[in-house]
Amino acid sequence: MLKVGIIGVGTVGASVANILEQNSDIIEARCGKKIVPIVGIVRDVSRDRGVSIPLSTNMDDVLENSEVDVVIELMGGVEGPFEVVKKALQNGKAVVTANKALLAYHRYSLQDIAGDIPIGFEASVAGGIPIIKALREGLSANHIESIKGIMNGTCNFILTKMMSEKVEFKDVLDEAQKLGYAEADPTFDVGGFDAAHKLLILASIAYGIHANPEDILIEGIEHINSEDIFFAKEFGYNIKHLTIAKKCANNKVELRAHAALVPSSQMIAKVDDVMNGISVIGDRVGETMYYGPGAGGDATASAVIADLIDIARVGQSSPMLGFKRDLEGGGLTLLNSDEIETKYYMRIKVSDEIGVLTKITSILGDFGISVDSFLQKPDSSDKSLATLLFSTHKCKELDVQNAMNEIAKLSTCREKPVMIRIED
Ligand code: HSE
Repeated sequence: MLKVGIIGVGTVGASVANILEQNSDIIEARCGKKIVPIVGIVRDVSRDRGVSIPLSTNMDDVLENSEVDVVIELMGGVEGPFEVVKKALQNGKAVVTANKALLAYHRYSLQDIAGDIPIGFEASVAGGIPIIKALREGLSANHIESIKGIMNGTCNFILTKMMSEKVEFKDVLDEAQKLGYAEADPTFDVGGFDAAHKLLILASIAYGIHANPEDILIEGIEHINSEDIFFAKEFGYNIKHLTIAKKCANNKVELRAHAALVPSSQMIAKVDDVMNGISVIGDRVGETMYYGPGAGGDATASAVIADLIDIARVGQSSPMLGFKRDLEGGGLTLLNSDEIETKYYMRIKVSDEIGVLTKITSILGDFGISVDSFLQKPDSSDKSLATLLFSTHKCKELDVQNAMNEIAKLSTCREKPVMIRIED
């Protein structure tokens, strides 16, 4: 029998306890053992959680309990859970966590502390989609060329609504919060951080890249408005919040999480609503695609329990982050964000005066930016204003940032220009 303590019996913790009970036949048949939750840790034991396991407010009832074989960490936060997981490992207990923020900062320290003790974290990226297993085991013969994912359901829900109905960002965010998709602090979702945390975990497994959130380009979706949606539709794009890891020249890898215009014909562009989708290209397998629920009690618990079953079967046989040693000749390193090269879309609100367009295209030209397509939209409420919508050919991130800063200084520029990257 494998005995489990659950720290944090919220939506996911309660699902874990209930699925372990209700699906015990298949779970036991698959791993040859019973997996039994023996205690759950909560802040308030008087609140009904819909579970039949004993509850306690004392963390040591799990961490110092010699009966507990595996600690499931479902607390949320970074430093608090780090101390908890460290203590569990130091006490010789295996750990399963769904905490992407914890892993975004501490995955390498935890790997070191754990040694041979298993740490499962399938639930930390894209909820119910087994993407960690896919990368670490299923695709382990491949050099990974790229990972392109929709890994935040809240952003995807909001953008899907903005594309299909005439609604603005703020109104849909309220709805997403009411439906319970967003994190407690929704800036984690709509600011791109939740997706970036997940990307960093995958980047370690795919490339051995040891980066922190501060090292990579992270943007959210707060700046997207109906004019961007209009342009996207006009030119055959969807707007998605993407996480991108891409191998580029000179053994570099670019890592970024931001909104992007994606051709509507691509499979990833069709991943809608609160669903997650991830495309992984391996040098031998080609493109593989993963689709499913990225959040929700049962979907996330499904991944947590898959880790428990692995631990019950043999102990974890794969190294936590997928590598037994560094790549020969040195591994891959992170590309500086300024060096990223892609296509861009820009939205610039200006006074509709003679010569404005010439000034702007001249600035773009000065920075070596070549325009691909252009639209001018009159302002619906103020006839003296117009919005200029450009897309560019491939150019460098730093040049685009510099050009946008110069354009913002023009007296005819009436709002901070906005840019969205294009991912063909
Ligand atoms: N808030 C996350 C999302 C759920 O919207 O996808 C789990 O990471």
